[in-house]
Amino acid sequence: MDKLVIRGGERLIGDAEVSGSKNSSLPIFAASLLTEGENRLHNVPKLRDILTIGKVLKNLGVKIREEDGVYCIDATDVTNEEAPYDLVKTMRASILVLGPLVARMRKARVSLPGGCAIGARPINLHLLGLEAMGAKIDLRRGYVEAKADRLKGATISFDTVTVTGTENLMMAATLAKGKTILQNAAMEPEVVDLANFLNKMGARIEGAGTGVIQIEGVESLQPTEHTIIPDRIEAGTLMVAAGVTRGNIRLLHCPVHHMEAVIHKLREAGMEIDPEGNEVTVVGNRRIRSVDVKTQPYPGFPTDMQAQFMTLMSLSRGLSIITETIFENRFIHVNELQRMGADIRIQGNTAIIQGVESLSGAQVMATDLRASASLVLAGLAADGITEISRVYHLDRGYEGLDKKLAKLGANIKRVKEGE
Ligand code: EPZ
Repeated sequence: MDKLVIRGGERLIGDAEVSGSKNSSLPIFAASLLTEGENRLHNVPKLRDILTIGKVLKNLGVKIREEDGVYCIDATDVTNEEAPYDLVKTMRASILVLGPLVARMRKARVSLPGGCAIGARPINLHLLGLEAMGAKIDLRRGYVEAKADRLKGATISFDTVTVTGTENLMMAATLAKGKTILQNAAMEPEVVDLANFLNKMGARIEGAGTGVIQIEGVESLQPTEHTIIPDRIEAGTLMVAAGVTRGNIRLLHCPVHHMEAVIHKLREAGMEIDPEGNEVTVVGNRRIRSVDVKTQPYPGFPTDMQAQFMTLMSLSRGLSIITETIFENRFIHVNELQRMGADIRIQGNTAIIQGVESLSGAQVMATDLRASASLVLAGLAADGITEISRVYHLDRGYEGLDKKLAKLGANIKRVKEGE
């Protein structure tokens, strides 16, 4: 396994490219199951999670090849409808094949994802929605077994805003008979990107990006070509990197219009963020102001930026309060940040951060994707050396983050554990 070794203190200067969105690529890969023929996808990020969804699709008989960075996905011959435990356990977003399989193949057997480090993360709302559309759902031996004649349109109201729940049911509804209305739907940009992809395939979706999405089912869909939107969470992570190193960077292909809440909070914390088209100049200042944050579904402050923002606040000039409202256990990074000298106290789903002058390098361990990003950011700012083990968590969701940071001047190396 790899680890990252960072010597903190370097200011980040220069340009960095924002890669394609992981959380847009995953549902769009799954959506390719809805049609025969070859879908061509551009700007797909090179991530472990993309390899995993590729394995899940290949296991279903889907043909996938990459040509000069373009992913060609052909689901003409789906030979089986099972997503096995050994794949789903490595990436819960594999559940996104459930909706498309039931819609196109009329059946599916998908391993229950189980919990993960940040929470129980049930999929009850995905299943309730499919049942409302006429699917028969059984839970047997750790698997979801779904069967349906043709799905029928239904009005589905989500108790909780769920991103992949909205995506799964939106995909299923494209081939259902009649109209489906999703109420209290997720409004994330990745949901909109999926809807745009599906509409290019011939689906009839309206309202994506609002809380009410209407889908008029069609008989069949056609393959299409699509460019994945940039990753707003990677972009936000790179902005915080400039903040904690008092750097001055320019982000290329930055989805500014998807980042209002994050940019607002970073400006409140004293950073200068100047968009020019889809480039953004980001300047971190000596004085980081303490800011309170509460995570919310989009367009609120994203939970996927909570850990990174906490690192910035651990170096601010006062007291800040971060409240995590989406997941019940998304403060795993706190213990490791405390080992680097951060002054953070947890009360339930609230973290109280007393900023400190500086953090000190230490040996730490990554536990989940965004927690590992927050430790990298802390290492960039800390005095001395930080070693971050289990970097495979980072590689799930960031395309060569260490290389991008090194190009900006960070003293960061990837080495084999034990070296
Ligand atoms: C998506 O996960 C993202 N993953 C997550 O990003 C992100 O943190 C999350 O949305 C919230 O924005 C992908 O898009 C692949 P949810 P998802 O369903 O869809 C509860 C990352 O770092 N819930 O929106 O699994 C759930 O427990 C990852 O890139 C139910 O109760 O999250 C949670 O409390 C981490 N029942 C809340 O809803 C359900 O059936 C939001 O979860 C579904 C969800």
